[in-house]
Amino acid sequence: MKNIILSAIAISVSISAFGWGQTGHRAIGKIAESYLSEKAKKSIQEIMGHESLAECSTWMDEVRSDKKYDYAKTWHYVTIPEGTDYKSVEHEEKGDVYEAIGRMKKILKDKSSTKEQKVEAIRMITHLVGDMHQPLHVGNGEDRGGNNVKIKWFYDDSNLHRIWDSGMIDEKKYSFSELAEVVNYPVNSDDDTYFNTDLDVWVEEAVALRPQIYNIGDKGFLSYEYMYENWDTVKIQLHKAGVRLAQILNDIYG
Ligand code: ADE
Ligand code: ZN
Ligand code: ZN
Repeated sequence: MKNIILSAIAISVSISAFGWGQTGHRAIGKIAESYLSEKAKKSIQEIMGHESLAECSTWMDEVRSDKKYDYAKTWHYVTIPEGTDYKSVEHEEKGDVYEAIGRMKKILKDKSSTKEQKVEAIRMITHLVGDMHQPLHVGNGEDRGGNNVKIKWFYDDSNLHRIWDSGMIDEKKYSFSELAEVVNYPVNSDDDTYFNTDLDVWVEEAVALRPQIYNIGDKGFLSYEYMYENWDTVKIQLHKAGVRLAQILNDIYG
């Protein structure tokens, strides 16, 4: 019994720090695949073989318990206090999502990188571009990206972070490919924000979403109304993440 309780605690603690849940990350990978150039598709296939972007998107969460990857534990998020931007604040010593995306781009562009390094870099960049579009992975430095904001979600104990990672998405009960299809409506050609690969702009967008995200009333309970107010934002963030990931990969592979 004690073991069951301990592992239940371990599971809930580890889940609380994840990025988008599996469904969100996979949908982003699938959306990105639909925007890859032929050249990028071919180059990525040569590196990844039969492992699709949808499949590899969750790898970084799967290796979290492997000590070999302890160095990447802080790479899933970035802290940007109110009134600051990335360049004006001190950063996590071991790296953050902003810095790690740059690091993966470099590995993929470097002709001397080994195949193994490139495989890991594709898995990581696919995951990290996703994480950076979960607006609470751009934390305000006050509440661990909303993990400390305890809230009941449809009668279950949860927290604001988890509602954004997976609560709203799981409530829809879509498979990842259904979610990708629902989210991946044609990009308005007048809206070039979708193809923006400037990480400072991504940070600004996430910070600008905070008032809406933290508009949670004082009941300690959220359900349909919060979903109604925020679902469009979830869809846009997933869509942007997919389009922008493809844009970065298309830029790398020409
Ligand atoms: N831990 C500290 N800040 C965090 C954030 N913004 N997202 C996920 N985990 C965190
Ligand atoms: Zn998360
Ligand atoms: Zn993550």
